[in-house]
Amino acid sequence: MKRYRNRELWPDDHGVHINAHGGGLLRHDGWIYWYGEHKIAGRAGNRAWVGVHVYRTRDYSRWEDRGIAFDIRGGEAGGLKPGECVIERPKVLCNAKTKKFVMFFHCETDGKYSDAKVGIALADHPEGPFALLKIERPSIGRWPENTPEELKNPKRIAFTRSQPPVSNGENPRTKELSIVGADLPIGQQSRDMTLFQDEDGRAYLIHSSEANSTLHIVELDETFTRLDGPCHRAFPLRWMEAPVVFRHGGRYYMICSGCTGWAPNAARSAVADRIEGPWTELGNPARGEGAETTFGTQGTFAWEEQGRIFFLADEWRPENAIDGRYVWLEVTWEGELPVLRDSENVPLPLDPLRA
Ligand code: GAL
Repeated sequence: MKRYRNRELWPDDHGVHINAHGGGLLRHDGWIYWYGEHKIAGRAGNRAWVGVHVYRTRDYSRWEDRGIAFDIRGGEAGGLKPGECVIERPKVLCNAKTKKFVMFFHCETDGKYSDAKVGIALADHPEGPFALLKIERPSIGRWPENTPEELKNPKRIAFTRSQPPVSNGENPRTKELSIVGADLPIGQQSRDMTLFQDEDGRAYLIHSSEANSTLHIVELDETFTRLDGPCHRAFPLRWMEAPVVFRHGGRYYMICSGCTGWAPNAARSAVADRIEGPWTELGNPARGEGAETTFGTQGTFAWEEQGRIFFLADEWRPENAIDGRYVWLEVTWEGELPVLRDSENVPLPLDPLRA
């Protein structure tokens, strides 16, 4: 009997390591689809050359390679030049109204991480082909509903515009600025992101914004293609990335990383009664050896199966991007606190014994 083990190679139905990094899953018509970044070898593999890869399974026992669902190899559609652009953290939902499969991803056309945009692509089938709809920033001209008045101060906004852009990561200067105000006309920055669909069918884009200092939660329209719905800020100046969102016992939970690029750091968890917040931080959910680096990983998605919640994470290998590994852990509970413990085995039922 062979099982997938966390951090080992995970062969697909052709015996090739699954190439779906920063990924997310979707259930549809009895299948589970896994979408993720297709990476190539070496450091160059941190940029996008190919697109978004999709695999499918019925029972986690065998992942079938279904090819490239969103393919950028053909050319320069929408300014996405293979080898220059970045396509990260793709997530897919099925829209009940339009019957379209809607893919969102973090998109950088020049690989410099200054675009900070969302790419949206649509398909009629879960395996694609996905066609690019647009690449844009969320919330153009729309203040997040809970923006504090001091961030709307015109002097502060003008001062922000006169300053060099804030770079990624802990930055004391950010306290003096109003990045949200400065970006208002061009839309809010969006780097690490995820999609969350609630039980009532509504869907939300949750993205790192304001130079990654603050998360934004944007309610999507009924077609899941517009980014100008109500937006709420969460965790101001907490520098959180890699949002992983799930619902449990009628409450909303988020597990995020800190902001240290490919290097792993300690995760933070939080709870809210409504998806738009207010969110209350619950501290580092990881327990045991490796807790300070989330066991060497960074989260990408939460998956519910048989009433249990699983935390899907990447162990990045930025020197040889294609060799990135997957670590899937079960979320357990200490009372109200979501807890992660490292494990060599992929937890059942996500890994039935493999023949
Ligand atoms: C990480 C982020 C990844 C990627 C990387 C680039 O913080 O989670 O998706 O953007 O930075 O350095």
